[in-house]
Amino acid sequence: MLYLDSCIEGAQKVIADETVDLVIADPPYNLKFGGTNYTKNKKPRFQIFANDNLSFPDYRRFCLAWLKQAYRILKPGSHVYIFIDWRTYPDMARWLKITGFTIKNCIVWDKKNMGMGWQYRYQHEFIIMAVKGKKKVRRIRSRNQTDVWQIPRIPGNQTIHPTEKPIDLMKRIIENSTEENEYVVDLFAGSGVVPEAAENLNRKWDAFEIDPGWAQVSIKRLNSEST
Ligand SMILES: C[S@@+](CC[C@H](N)C(=O)[O-])C[C@H]1O[C@@H](n2cnc3c(N)ncnc32)[C@H](O)[C@@H]1O
Repeated sequence: MLYLDSCIEGAQKVIADETVDLVIADPPYNLKFGGTNYTKNKKPRFQIFANDNLSFPDYRRFCLAWLKQAYRILKPGSHVYIFIDWRTYPDMARWLKITGFTIKNCIVWDKKNMGMGWQYRYQHEFIIMAVKGKKKVRRIRSRNQTDVWQIPRIPGNQTIHPTEKPIDLMKRIIENSTEENEYVVDLFAGSGVVPEAAENLNRKWDAFEIDPGWAQVSIKRLNSEST
């Protein structure tokens, strides 16, 4: 179910230790992002979302707190996928290790279309894939795939959330790292893409979104799916 709550306090309240088969986290990257950056002619389509405009010490504390929850709820040997871009990768990798995770790979999501950026326009993001523990680590569905994923991003003028991810990206993660009826937790639901993907793939799921407006967008997406 979708919880209108912070994933930190919310997960602590409702998710028991070592019960989850997969955690997906698409957190704020702390980039003050409003969907479209200001230019002379364009204003952002969206407001900056929660926890995307923190001081570095606050952002560090925030990330360590949700990573701790991710670690607590995951079954040993299970996977976590964390979206991040090149600017925050070094810090996130360090915080993952501090929390106890072992990083297995860094998937490059090639969005196939260029986005913003002055010195070379951005076309990729990273998805860190890490595991809890070192023993009996779960394997992905098929070894016959690389760590570069070419999946088109949603065009900027068609997104319903400033950082909305394509459903095929979330489906690929879920199919690679879980079986039917297993349990997926999405720590940052945004517009509800992970819940929709999990629902489509017959996985159990829970998700957290702190902002009532975005929680409503998720609920609308899920309702339109089921009708
Ligand atoms: C990068 S976006 C996720 C986008 C989502 N994957 C999608 O495709 O629509 C991060 C979301 O996390 C939410 N958020 C920020 N802090 C949170 C917290 N402590 N707990 C739960 N959600 C939070 C923000 O409101 C924002 O909607």
